Amino acid sequence: PRRVTLAQIRKWYVEKRPIVMLTAYDYPAAVHADLAGIDIVLVGDSVGMVELGYDTTQYVSMDDMIHHCRAVHTGARRPYIVGDMPFGSYEVSAERAMDNAFRFIQAGKVNAVKLEGGIRSAHTVHRIVQSGVAVMGHTGLTPQSVSAIGSFRPMGQTFDEARQILQDCLALQEAGAFAIVLECIPERLAAQITSALSIPTIGIGAGRHTSGQVLVYHDLVGMLTHPHHAKVVPKFCKRYARVGEYVNNALEQYRDEVRSRTFPDDAYSPYSIADDEFERFR
Ligand code: KIV
Ligand code: NA
Repeated sequence: PRRVTLAQIRKWYVEKRPIVMLTAYDYPAAVHADLAGIDIVLVGDSVGMVELGYDTTQYVSMDDMIHHCRAVHTGARRPYIVGDMPFGSYEVSAERAMDNAFRFIQAGKVNAVKLEGGIRSAHTVHRIVQSGVAVMGHTGLTPQSVSAIGSFRPMGQTFDEARQILQDCLALQEAGAFAIVLECIPERLAAQITSALSIPTIGIGAGRHTSGQVLVYHDLVGMLTHPHHAKVVPKFCKRYARVGEYVNNALEQYRDEVRSRTFPDDAYSPYSIADDEFERFR
């Protein structure tokens, strides 16, 4: 199967065919995403929270991202792959950002990069796109700014914030972004922004009217069901499965069967040695 191209994504957008995006961070998840016909796989810096156990995305490094991108590239053969530029990798200067974007392409083998921020990031987006790398924007809630925002909270619930987000989106479009993630904003604001733009919007916690949707893999499949994790699955995320409980059950059965010596039984003790060889051995 040929890999999804930017031209294909634009065609889906024009045809109003919703774009399906999902995060993945490793080979098995990437294979699942591919088998399921996911259009775009995002190697999100949410890897810091759902794979590395951090409480924000701010501690994720370029090295972390490249490591995960390579695994996803191997597993996801058809989806378009977007690598999320981590906190600190694109804010200092457009030059630093371009170096890091090239690393995503050359070492991470992704098809495009994503970075947070609207007007503040527009110049950098423009330079990266001019250098030949496709860029996805990200506005609304931008989790890398949690330190400055104060907490993870919905955005765009006041006139000023709503206007700011629209202007951010227009700046990103003008800068050459091929799509924009809208995170945690009111549905009718997302709808208005989507109709004002001529590039696709990908919503997460942004209601029904965006050009596509994205969810975090672990939230979608219900991976993190440990007691101290239950609270971080966001309100807007539909849990399509409870994989964490399934894994728990398997591990507990294994534990019990080892303790009771019911595993391994005959069926799982497959290797033989000929009688004469064994006689000599003992
Ligand atoms: O890191 C991430 O998973 C993201 C998506 C939620 C858009 O940025
Ligand atoms: Na992210």
